[in-house]
Amino acid sequence: MTKVQINYYDGSQSEKTLTDEEIPFPEGKLIVSRTDTDGIITHCNQAFVDMSGFEKDELIGQPHCVLRHPDMPSAAFKDLWDTVKDQGKKWRGYVKNLRKDGSFYWVYAVVVPNVRDGKTVGFASIRRKPSRTKINELTETYKAMLAEEKKA
Ligand SMILES: Cc1cc2nc3c(=O)[nH]c(=O)nc-3n(C[C@H](O)[C@H](O)[C@H](O)COP(=O)(O)O)c2cc1C
Repeated sequence: MTKVQINYYDGSQSEKTLTDEEIPFPEGKLIVSRTDTDGIITHCNQAFVDMSGFEKDELIGQPHCVLRHPDMPSAAFKDLWDTVKDQGKKWRGYVKNLRKDGSFYWVYAVVVPNVRDGKTVGFASIRRKPSRTKINELTETYKAMLAEEKKA
């Protein structure tokens, strides 16, 4: 077990305990959540609750970074937000998520703007089982990106 401090985009921090255990993505499931325009979770399905290890009422109303794993580079999330919020487009990518108990799980996520009457009212993320080859590739890519970010 390792204790780490996570620094969030808004300047806040929190201390988390990590284990090296990977929880496999559940077969045949989709993990779904919706947020408002600020990334605050407004809805999530049972697969999301089960995989995150949190209770539903610990998730609704919380910022999505509650699942942020310290192995994820900030640039990946900047790209996500630039794509869905600034450009109004779909973002696809691999994300390593932190569970409440400190273990982790990888997802392949598609994040889309939720547009009503021409206005973005929030976002939705639909996650499916990621490919192992891609996970191995992205592990290295994210490690290199994180090392660059730490230098800056
Ligand atoms: C619909 C949606 C789903 C998201 N899902 C995740 C997620 O599963 N895990 C995660 O770490 N961040 C997710 N994010 C990004 C977070 O909002 C946040 O940018 C990220 O955790 C990094 O935290 P930070 O921006 O405070 O540094 C999602 C954002 C949106 C809009």
